[in-house]
Parts: sequence; C-alpha cells; structure tokens
Amino acid sequence: MKATVTAHKDYAISRIDDRVYGAFLEHLGRAIYTGIYEPDHPTADKNGMRGDVAKLVKDLNVPMVRYPGGNFVSAYNWEDGIGPREERPVRLDLAWHTSESNAVGIHEFADWCDTVGTQMMLAVNLGSRGLDAARNFVEYVNHPGGSYWSDQRIKNGRKDPWDVKLWCLGNEMDGPWQVGHKSADEYGHLANETAKALRAFDKSLELIVCGSSNAKMPSYPQWEATVLDHTYDAIDYISLHMYFANREKNTPNYLALSVELENYINSVAGVIQFIKAKKRSKKDVYISFDEWNVWYHSNQQDRKILEGNDGWPHAPALLEDVYNFEDVLQVGLILNAFIRRADVVKIACIAQLVNVIAPIMTDPKGAAWRQTIYYPYYFASIYGRGTALNLVVNSPTYDADNVKGVPFADVTGVHNEDEGTLTFFAVNRNGKEALDLEIALEGFGDATIIDHQVMTHANLEAVNTAKNPDEVVPAKGTGASIKSGKLSVSLPPHSYQMIRAK
Ligand code: AHR
Repeated sequence: MKATVTAHKDYAISRIDDRVYGAFLEHLGRAIYTGIYEPDHPTADKNGMRGDVAKLVKDLNVPMVRYPGGNFVSAYNWEDGIGPREERPVRLDLAWHTSESNAVGIHEFADWCDTVGTQMMLAVNLGSRGLDAARNFVEYVNHPGGSYWSDQRIKNGRKDPWDVKLWCLGNEMDGPWQVGHKSADEYGHLANETAKALRAFDKSLELIVCGSSNAKMPSYPQWEATVLDHTYDAIDYISLHMYFANREKNTPNYLALSVELENYINSVAGVIQFIKAKKRSKKDVYISFDEWNVWYHSNQQDRKILEGNDGWPHAPALLEDVYNFEDVLQVGLILNAFIRRADVVKIACIAQLVNVIAPIMTDPKGAAWRQTIYYPYYFASIYGRGTALNLVVNSPTYDADNVKGVPFADVTGVHNEDEGTLTFFAVNRNGKEALDLEIALEGFGDATIIDHQVMTHANLEAVNTAKNPDEVVPAKGTGASIKSGKLSVSLPPHSYQMIRAK
C-alpha cells in the first residue's frame, strides 16, 4: 500500500499555539495526593512534591496546566486551600464522592508549576457558587496588593501576584451530573456577567466559556449557539471536551474516532462563525479543547466508589486507566487533529496528567513511570511547535461503522522556521499492511533526516507497568531517506512515527 503527501513551505494552516500541548490536573483520585504531592515520598522536595513526577512532567515541557477541576471545581471553595495547612477544612467532594483534605491549594499548586516550568490555567466555580467567589479568587491570584484578598495572599506568604491569564468560567455546565448544572440560557447569562466583572478587573484576561461536554449531549450544538449568543463579546474561547473509548474491541472503529473529533471541531467552528456574523462582530473566538484523552479502561472498577458504596475515601485510586499500545495510536491521531485545526484550536489539555487518565503513573511510596501514551504526547509537545503545514495527503481509505473514507495514513507536518526543521507525525491505521509513504518536499531546500522515531508492537494490548515500564517505548527508525526532494519512509502496520528533517 502506498500513500503520497505534498508539503509546500508556503502552504500553511496556521501557527500552532504552544498551549495546544497543555494538560489538566484535578483534585480527583490520586492526581494530587500521591500523584504530584506526597510528603513522605523519598523524592519529595521541601514542599512535599514528588521529584520523580516533577521530572517526568518537566521533560514534557507542558506549557500550562488547567486546575483545580473538572467536576470538582463546581462545588469547590477556593478559600479552603489557603492559610495554615492545619487549619484547612476537610470537605466532602460531591463530584467524586471522596474527602478533600485541602492540603494542596493554590499556593502549593503555583509553586509546583514553577518547579516543573509551566503556567497555570485556573477554573472558577460557577456551579455551587458564582460571580462573587470568582472575582475574589481572581483578585487573590492577580492583584499586586492593597486590597482585602490580595493582602490575604501576601499574609499567606506570596508577595507577588501570579498574574494568571487563562480563566475557565465553570466546567461542563451542560452536564446534569455537574453540581449546579444550568440551562444554556442560565449559564450563558451567568458566564457573561462573570466575564464582564473579571474584565472590569483586568481587560487582558483570557476567558473561556463552557461548550458541550461532548458531541453526544442532547443539547449540543444549540448549547454552543446559546452560550455564545450571551457571551460572545466578553470571552475569548469556548471549551470542548471529548474522551475516546474502545469498549467493543473494534480497532478500525476506535481509530476512526479522531475523524469524529475533527467533525466536532468543524461544527463548533461553524457555530462560532454563525454567532460572529449574527452579532456583526469583528472579534474572533477560538476553541479551547481543555479535556481530551482515552478514558474507558477503568470505568468498571470505579463504580463502587462513584456510586457512594465506599464512603468518602481520601485520594482513592479513581480513573486509573492503564493505557495500551493501541492508545498510542489514538493519542497520536488526536494530536494530529489539533495540529490540522491549529487555525481554530488554540488551547488543548490532555486529561489528565498524573494517575487519573494520565500519561504518568505512580505507586504511593514507590515508582513513577511513563504510560504508553506519554510518548506521542511527548513528541508532539517537544517537536510539534511551529507552523502547521497544509499537506495534500492521498491515502487509501477504509469504512468504519460511523465514518466512511477513513484514511489509513494520518499525517501532519510542522515547520519550525526558527530552527529550520520540518517534523512529520504519521499514524498507520492499517493493522495488516505496511504503508509506503512518500512526501514531496517543496520549498525546503536540501533537507536531510535528523531524527526518526517509531512506535509499534505485536500486541495492541501491551502496557507499561511499574515492574515493566519499558514494554511500549519508541525505537529509532530505520530506512527513512530523502532523495531528489522526496522523503520516503515505510509505516509498519499499526504504527506511530515521527520523522524530522532539516
Ligand atoms: O477528567 C475527568 C472528568 O471528565 C472531569 O472532571 C470532567 O470535567 C469530565 O467529565
């Protein structure tokens, strides 16, 4: 089988916003406690943060991390997480039926972000609370001093404001499971008033309204239209979420889901344009895809806790998906979709970062290791920065149950003008045959291959564990070449690869 691609230096989609490689950490399960924070761990720093985890996060060069939720934020009092630790209240977390010790709050999280070299993207509670708590939180975080909340921050040990730009106005407010769930009109009105108040504090904030929790919600896409109708002039991004699952063990259908993801992005981009035209607005609103990942492996085992049959445990194992090799392909495909839609998707967050549906896993008191999906996320975050190229791809296709004409070869190209590099990310969705890929390079001069990484495995269900953390890892590719301006490479059946040229 053969696929051909043309990459021309001047055919660009858009500059990729670095923040498309963001991540998400929620007070959920062991993401925070025994994830990033474990004071008794042998690698813990003076703040109680695990050094082994911080190193794995740092290596990913994550541009920003969304915090503190998720569903958790919709019943969270941010003030519970400030002040002396021993005085902080233990609360019942209604979203995940657990207890929250509040040992980690905004100060500890901000310090951790400094340690791992990332920025904060914060969410305010528009479920059980509203505008007033939101504006106080923003004042606490961003005001230099001389006001009630900024002086409280200084009293609590942080002199300089953190100056956080990105603020999520609630989370998944379309979902009946959300504490304080609202209709699109109710939410749209509240989000608009909150946005206006936050803008009165600081015009330069970047504000994100909730779109649908997924494209199967009954209110989608009317939700987007109604919410944007209320908020268009006051906000900058609309958030989308999507989780991927292969419950039927049907790999061709599973690997076609990223086409549905692109349709979802297209539709919401269309709704944005519709409201822009309706309002005769000159302003653009973009997409913040602030929750995406594979999520299904752990569903069954989580039932007991989520149904409340285990009481209110503190930091139990929840949503601990163990990812397999097949998920490497899926994550590679999702990231390719974001690169292709770099014109409208400006922010995205892998959900989540540690332990909870995450590329990094830990054992309490024990090891931290990279799950299989760590690698495609790593390659995209490190090498997928620059300009997304508008490739012409000709690939044989297959029909999945819900999507016709799915290309076997899924390829994106990123031109980093500063470094003079060209990076291709390629997934072969075909499990039976290799694909000979030929990429015509136009306008790039005499490029040569500088790196080639391949991920493939005989067993789609192979996983990495604490005992065997290197079962699914990238290997140096062989056989890629550039001759007379044509890059040739073979994509083995069911493989992910990154090919770089300069
Ligand atoms: O990431 C896990 C959960 O998924 C988040 O809390 C919620 O926003 C979504 O439903």
